[in-house]
Amino acid sequence: MTTQEMKVAFEQAYGQKAEKVFFAPGRVNLIGEHTDYNGGCVFPCALSFGAWLLLAKNNDKVLRFRSLNMPQVYEIPIDAIKPQPDRAWCNYALGCIDIIVRRHPEAKLTSGYDILYFGNVPAGAGLSSSAAMEVVTARAFTEEMADLTPSLSQGEGAKFPFGYDEKAYRTELALIGQACEHEYAGVMCGVMDQFASAQGKKDHAIYLNCDTLEFEHVPVKLEGIKVVISNTHSPHHLDSGAYNDRVRQCHTAVEQISKVKPIKFLAELTPEDWEQVEGAITDPIAKKRARHVVGEVARTAAAVEALKKGEIAYFGELMTASHVSLRDDYEVTGKELDSLAAAAWQVEGVLGSRMTGGGFGGCTVSLVKDEAIEEFKRFVGAEYEKATGLKADFYVAEIGDGVMRLE
Ligand code: GLA
Repeated sequence: MTTQEMKVAFEQAYGQKAEKVFFAPGRVNLIGEHTDYNGGCVFPCALSFGAWLLLAKNNDKVLRFRSLNMPQVYEIPIDAIKPQPDRAWCNYALGCIDIIVRRHPEAKLTSGYDILYFGNVPAGAGLSSSAAMEVVTARAFTEEMADLTPSLSQGEGAKFPFGYDEKAYRTELALIGQACEHEYAGVMCGVMDQFASAQGKKDHAIYLNCDTLEFEHVPVKLEGIKVVISNTHSPHHLDSGAYNDRVRQCHTAVEQISKVKPIKFLAELTPEDWEQVEGAITDPIAKKRARHVVGEVARTAAAVEALKKGEIAYFGELMTASHVSLRDDYEVTGKELDSLAAAAWQVEGVLGSRMTGGGFGGCTVSLVKDEAIEEFKRFVGAEYEKATGLKADFYVAEIGDGVMRLE
């Protein structure tokens, strides 16, 4: 769907023209899984798929929410912003607006808005459709609220709301989105997805330290190799349950390790430290989870170095090792993701393949030589269908920019 078509749909829905159009991308994580909430590093890229938001002020002091993907329509008075029941999709938007006001009490939402979303991140694929929606909302409403609040008139040279420079502004958008996910969706996620959506850069991956939020854009230069995303089409159940359990199990490991070596995060441990402290973890599940995190943090650092040096074969091996650890120690893969990865590993011309995102369904990410892509789709598709009865989908990833205002 083009922006022009979205604008027509907006006018049909609301009887007025959209004033502004924003876009925020979904993401794929190359390596560094379930490390973000453990103070570790991640290595995601923004995609060209994402969420669009169109808006115009109204005179009714209400927020009207519509989506071209969802049938439900919501109308919420601007002075009654709170979580809506029944997993209402507008919670991802309301939460961001609420959190902007809480993080910036000087900002006021004094006008109502007509709002329309459109998303083209494949649903339930674990490619961060919700983070895209959060970040696009945070982007739009920080700008609107700064404009609505005369006392926030920008200092000289400041081009971004609340006086931020661009880098700090984008990080703030990620933090607003993450807080929304915690408070309005109940998923105690790390910051990776929202950060990738906010700070993405075309043809670059983001090497992010999720403790300090320091990051580096690393060029993804893969001569003759593509990043291929394979969708299990098995609804990914990143429900708060299984995910929040992993977060808790990691906390248990931190507590038990801290009896012998005080740490704040599992990611502080090197593989050498691990040998010294693993005996302190009495809970066997917590031990497996922690072992994954310590290994994954080391793999991520090694993978970034490998990419910088052009050692793509080694990068691929680290991806595959990441999947094995997520399968055996973190236990977030399941039959569908495991079948897709195992089939990919057999294809000549595949350098590495692993699940990406939270897990429990969703997608894998693979590095595939150009000349092997057709065979990859054929063989992996057929093996996957044999193993699960489901049809997979394949996309060659286009690495795009982070959130932006389009019009
Ligand atoms: C989900 C969460 C992220 C991250 C990944 C696993 O995508 O939203 O914060 O924890 O799972 O790496």
